[in-house]
Amino acid sequence: MDRNWYDLPNEVRFGIRYLSAHFYPKRYMERWSVLKPLSVKLADQVKEYSPQQVQEELDHFQFFDLYFREEPLSQIELPSSYIKFFDDLVEDFQSGELERIVTRFHLVTEGILATTGLDVLRRAGEKYSLPQFVTGIRHIIEDEARHINFGMSLVTSKEYAVKRIEELYPQAKRIVEDGKEKLDHLVPFQEILEEMEELKRGRIYRLSKL
Ligand SMILES: [Fe+2]
Repeated sequence: MDRNWYDLPNEVRFGIRYLSAHFYPKRYMERWSVLKPLSVKLADQVKEYSPQQVQEELDHFQFFDLYFREEPLSQIELPSSYIKFFDDLVEDFQSGELERIVTRFHLVTEGILATTGLDVLRRAGEKYSLPQFVTGIRHIIEDEARHINFGMSLVTSKEYAVKRIEELYPQAKRIVEDGKEKLDHLVPFQEILEEMEELKRGRIYRLSKL
């Protein structure tokens, strides 16, 4: 935790913790505990799906766990839109259908939702001079960029992938809208929505070039 953490306004601290909990939903981990063995299994099955990626996700959890040790993220409740989205992700993983997993996890969850959220965290960390936090977030952003590229490389039907993005996008947007009040203290909410739209367009554009 940065030394000046407690100097931040309450609503900013809460906003940062609220958004961070989306990356480390400690309160709900038990509910999705099956995701870890399922992703390890996927790493076994898919050539190039490096176990390193699974390890990186665990390292990200650890960063948030350590940073918020004094104010644990287990205290943070997340909206039902988020819970439902990850319940559906578990179903996708359980189906074992690679394209279903990749389109929800790599393209929408990481490629749109997490990219937007990490950028908001980075901007808030910079604005409020939290060097330790920003360093950790930048590191995660780099890892995620690799994960997303990897996901893109697994897409075989761009028509299906575009259809999935269009289908899942409103669910992802709902999660962000449900956090409006808290997120607005970090970055003007309209900018967050615009960034999300832009990322969606960007993903679809890249798919069209495959
Ligand atoms: Fe990732």
